[in-house]
Amino acid sequence: MSYSVLITLHLFAALIFVGTVFFEVLILEGIRKHVGRESMREVETAIGNRARQIMPWTLLVLYGAGIGMAWNYRTILAHPLASSFGTLLTIKIVLALSVLGHFITAMILGNKGLLKGRYVQRIHVSVFIHMIGIVLLAKTMLYLKW
Ligand code: HEM
Repeated sequence: MSYSVLITLHLFAALIFVGTVFFEVLILEGIRKHVGRESMREVETAIGNRARQIMPWTLLVLYGAGIGMAWNYRTILAHPLASSFGTLLTIKIVLALSVLGHFITAMILGNKGLLKGRYVQRIHVSVFIHMIGIVLLAKTMLYLKW
């Protein structure tokens, strides 16, 4: 698959994933104090169920395209400290793997029925911070040189 197709797929999947996380943190967390606990739980359960339908495919495309693009940079990634691009891309990939860890943890907790209030909030905020780092790195790695 050509690089231009991979980066387009990667960008659209990133939009869906980052957009969902930003919605959850900036909008959903913001309405928590204005909505009753039971109603909030129902909304969170419904959103969680919808996310479990869409997110596996989104993540498959996001990580699949990411790995496909990273394959082009395999010689650079073999020596991550030898160039600014290699270092920043490596940090981006590590953060992306950490996000995957969060997602898998959330799926496991969700399947056990343990994904509630405080866990949801902590995972959202942590993934939100990761997202900011990943998006900043995705752009700075192209422009920041040392
Ligand atoms: C949470 C996961 C991820 C998010 C949100 C994300 C997001 C992004 C964004 C927004 C871009 C910029 C695209 C553009 O400029 O059009 C990008 C570029 C890139 N990503 Fe990711 N990414 C993620 C995971 C990964 C993974 C796992 C890899 C590789 C294993 C990867 C490899 C790359 C590469 C190589 C580029 C540079 C493309 C280029 O400008 O030539 N990404 N990513």
